[in-house]
Amino acid sequence: MFMENMLFLHGISYPFTSFGFSTKKFFIYALIFVQLLVFSSQHVSGQDGVIVTQADYQALRAFKHELIDLRGVLRSWNDSGYGACSGGWIGIKCVKGQVIAIQLPWKGLGGRISEKIGQLQALRKISLHDNVLAGNVPMAFGFLPNLRGVYLFNNRLSGSIPPTIGNCPVLQTLDLSNNSLTGPIPPSIANSTRLFRVNLSFNSLSGSIPSSLTRSSSLTILALQQNNLSGSIPNSWGGIGNRAYQLQFLTLDHNKLSGTIPVSLSKLGLLQQISLSNNQISGIIPNELGRLTRLQVLDLSSNAINGSFPASISNLSSLVSLNLGSNRLDNQIPKTIDRLQNLSVLNLKNNQFSGQIPATISNISGINQLDLSGNNFTGEIPDSLASLSNLTSFNVSYNNLSGSVPSLLTKKFNKSSFVGNLQLCGYSISTPCSTSPTENPPAPSPEIPKEPHHHKLSTKDIILIAAGILLVILLLLCCILLCCFIKKKAAMKGKTDKSSKQAAAAGGSAEKAISAGSEIESAGEAGGKLVHFDGPFVFTADDLLCATAEIMGKSTYGTAYKATLEDGNQVAVKRLREKTTKGQKEFEAEAAAIGKIRHANLLALRAYYLGPKGEKLLVFDYMPKGSLASFLHARGPETVIDWPTRMNIAMGVTRGLNYLHNQENIVHGNLTSSNILLDEQNNSHIADFGLSRLMTNAANTNVIATAGSLGYNAPELSKTKKTNTKTDVYSLGVIILELLTGKSPGEPMNGMDLPQWVASIVKEEWTNEVFDLELMRDAPAIGDELLNTLKLALHCVDPSPAARPEVQQVLQQLEEIKPEAAAAAAASPGEETAKAPSSTSE
Ligand SMILES: *[C@@H]1O[C@H](CO)[C@@H](O)[C@H](O)[C@H]1NC(C)=O
Ligand SMILES: *[C@@H]1O[C@H](CO)[C@@H](O)[C@H](O)[C@H]1NC(C)=O
Ligand SMILES: *[C@@H]1O[C@H](CO)[C@@H](O)[C@H](O)[C@H]1NC(C)=O
Ligand SMILES: *[C@@H]1O[C@H](CO)[C@@H](O)[C@H](O)[C@H]1NC(C)=O
Ligand SMILES: *[C@@H]1O[C@H](CO)[C@@H](O)[C@H](O)[C@H]1NC(C)=O
Ligand SMILES: *[C@@H]1O[C@H](CO)[C@@H](O)[C@H](O)[C@H]1NC(C)=O
Ligand SMILES: *[C@@H]1O[C@H](CO)[C@@H](O)[C@H](O)[C@H]1NC(C)=O
Ligand SMILES: *[C@@H]1O[C@H](CO)[C@@H](O)[C@H](O)[C@H]1NC(C)=O
Ligand SMILES: *[C@@H]1O[C@H](CO)[C@@H](O)[C@H](O)[C@H]1NC(C)=O
Ligand SMILES: *[C@@H]1O[C@H](CO)[C@@H](O)[C@H](O)[C@H]1NC(C)=O
Ligand SMILES: *[C@@H]1O[C@H](CO)[C@@H](O)[C@H](O)[C@H]1NC(C)=O
Ligand SMILES: *[C@@H]1O[C@H](CO)[C@@H](O)[C@H](O)[C@H]1NC(C)=O
Repeated sequence: MFMENMLFLHGISYPFTSFGFSTKKFFIYALIFVQLLVFSSQHVSGQDGVIVTQADYQALRAFKHELIDLRGVLRSWNDSGYGACSGGWIGIKCVKGQVIAIQLPWKGLGGRISEKIGQLQALRKISLHDNVLAGNVPMAFGFLPNLRGVYLFNNRLSGSIPPTIGNCPVLQTLDLSNNSLTGPIPPSIANSTRLFRVNLSFNSLSGSIPSSLTRSSSLTILALQQNNLSGSIPNSWGGIGNRAYQLQFLTLDHNKLSGTIPVSLSKLGLLQQISLSNNQISGIIPNELGRLTRLQVLDLSSNAINGSFPASISNLSSLVSLNLGSNRLDNQIPKTIDRLQNLSVLNLKNNQFSGQIPATISNISGINQLDLSGNNFTGEIPDSLASLSNLTSFNVSYNNLSGSVPSLLTKKFNKSSFVGNLQLCGYSISTPCSTSPTENPPAPSPEIPKEPHHHKLSTKDIILIAAGILLVILLLLCCILLCCFIKKKAAMKGKTDKSSKQAAAAGGSAEKAISAGSEIESAGEAGGKLVHFDGPFVFTADDLLCATAEIMGKSTYGTAYKATLEDGNQVAVKRLREKTTKGQKEFEAEAAAIGKIRHANLLALRAYYLGPKGEKLLVFDYMPKGSLASFLHARGPETVIDWPTRMNIAMGVTRGLNYLHNQENIVHGNLTSSNILLDEQNNSHIADFGLSRLMTNAANTNVIATAGSLGYNAPELSKTKKTNTKTDVYSLGVIILELLTGKSPGEPMNGMDLPQWVASIVKEEWTNEVFDLELMRDAPAIGDELLNTLKLALHCVDPSPAARPEVQQVLQQLEEIKPEAAAAAAASPGEETAKAPSSTSE
């Protein structure tokens, strides 16, 4: 069957763009809520909607009838079907008169889900999570051949999971967590060949874990924790042969599982998290688990596991958290444990470990929780543990330790960390060491209490924001009236879904191309294609396209949105302008190259989506603080941005650009303060790099022209129209001037652009006049730094390209001007280098 639907993002012009940051006070981040994808039907234009089919209309009526809608959220479901598919009925999306999605989360809906839902033959997604629905999970889901996503978590559903769910051949996500479901998990759940995420946690499910789930090669997330499951965990993971199994997250904690830890888990090479805690698992920890080189979390605590700590655990190089507490493990901890260089949590409490505490633990420099209490450790506490500066929680109580506690440790931790060791002394007044040789002078406590930062909006901000929102709503109303709908044929599909943040540290640069190909045949419709790069979030194309989105800005490349996925995670989505991008093949090759680029100061491309009619979406990390332009020019008068912050931003931008020029051979071509985004810590991330490679030449010329009007373009560009590293350095210079002066390059000053203006004042030896007033408060301390940075920036904006330095030299000079900032930045390489190492190196 041929389906037609509409895919578009509202293309609303919006003042918060790269153009014109005129005054500091005026700029307000206002919000427009739109849907990234708006489905509509064939001849939608004006008010002519396609009328919902009779069967679907009746099904929706029955569905409403069995709900209890105390808040009246379904008031709009009132007419005889005219509104259902033309946007009038809240929470309904249609294609050609058939309902494809019901999305009514957080609506206070009670009652039950009607079995008539089975009549909605085109239904793909049902999202009713966070309501108060009771009754059963409908058996009729089994009549829905297109069903992909079932999100019913956080309700009061009871009864058992209908085995008919196995009749949905393309089911991807089944989230029934946090209900009151009982009975067994039907083995048929694994019938779908696209199963991606199954979350049945926080119910009262009983029986054993069906082994069919262990054979699903597409399953990526399996969460069955907090149930009443029993029996042993099947040992058939990873199936037979060398098919690639996708499982990354396996959480089975808080059940009544018994038996041993299945050795076959070691075949799941992508596993990042295993949680089996609080069960009745016995036997030993299989050596083979040491093969899981991507494993970050291993929690086997509160079971009845015995034997020793396998040496192979030290091979789990990605491990961040290891919890073996409350088991029956004995023998010594292997001394090679310090190979777990990324470990931050080590919990071995309440076992029967013996021998000495390995001093090598102090080689794990980032460790912050170490609990060895309730064992049979002997000997002294190694002095070197005192050197672990990040250690915030430490417990060696109830062992058989002796000697004196290193004095730094006694300063950081109170006596409850040390009690219960008869021969241990020096950790409290009542346990003095009899032969204390030399009192160490009191060293300063390494703990520096951190003041939480509060970002409060002043009343002025609030008024401005409210005014902005009002203005924008008015604009939006106008736009809706004007907005004409573009007809599109589309059908989204996708495969992957959310994952927890821990996936971030995954390391692997797995690039999963999820082509709709095979599904097109099975579903009989045209599909799009979602390609993921390495990153923290995994989501399906459906999740992306149905996300609630908010316009952040428009640029010559397209419109940027902040999209909130079903699971609450946020991403930035850029919808590229139609007809400005290269052909599909070339586009994909370039996007794949950009998707591999990872640097702490470059905004990472996480995925792209190609719609069936050539629509192109790029998915990036969402940067909560917005752009440098708004940070500098749209703040309240009482918000001061100090020099170290500005310098840190300048350095970040320079580092990012240096990486682009020298590691990736990419010229940015459109570096502006609107393209510099800031994260929570005010670290800069350059956006839009490489985008020119996705665009046609005509589109790029247009970009250059626009940037020219913003004051970032090198003068020679108006003639050559060709960007290069020297034109980038010019733009960098303008950005540094912008940071120094607090002035926007878009505002001409006495007919001069920003570089000319600064140069003219410097020439007249009134140099101090150029700096942002608030910087002058600290001038005595930082005067030289300001002057040297100014000189450097002026060097960058030299009218002659040959006279400008290369970005590497700029970086060097900045580091000389402010060596502390350079050292600090080197010590904390930022999340990106930390999280995606394998993609930075290749
Ligand atoms: C149906 O509800 C919508 C929105 O609440 C309202 O605008 C419309 O007038 C109602 N129509 C009828 C026939 O009651
Ligand atoms: C389960 O849902 C209730 C509300 O329905 C909520 O208060 C609770 O936090 C949820 N539990 C989990 C683990 O999400
Ligand atoms: C599973 O559901 C529970 C309860 O709703 C939630 O807390 C948890 O984060 C979910 N886990 C995954 C991996 O989706
Ligand atoms: C689903 O799987 C079960 C076995 O797990 C099988 O008996 C049944 O026929 C399958 N149903 C479909 C529709 O594939
Ligand atoms: C858990 O299952 C056992 C039988 O295996 C049953 O006796 C018990 O009542 C169940 N508990 C809950 C909370 O469902
Ligand atoms: C750890 O891995 C290395 C190679 O990766 C292997 O040679 C060694 O045997 C492993 N150690 C253990 C204890 O499994
Ligand atoms: C350990 O963490 C560091 C930085 O956090 C990262 O660069 C490295 O790749 C990680 N190692 C592994 C094996 O995951
Ligand atoms: C690890 O720790 C041991 C004992 O504290 C020490 O001798 C060794 O030099 C350390 N190795 C590294 C690589 O730091
Ligand atoms: C200690 O913690 C801080 C903040 O979490 C982190 O930046 C730093 O890298 C950590 N130190 C080590 C040695 O891992
Ligand atoms: C502790 O270790 C000692 C010898 O080191 C041994 O004699 C004793 O039985 C152990 N105690 C426990 C409770 O394992
Ligand atoms: C504690 O260790 C000492 C040797 O250091 C040993 O003689 C003693 O038996 C141990 N006590 C216990 C209770 O394990
Ligand atoms: C250390 O562990 C013991 C026993 O597990 C516990 O009672 C004590 O509160 C813990 N102390 C700290 C500081 O965690």
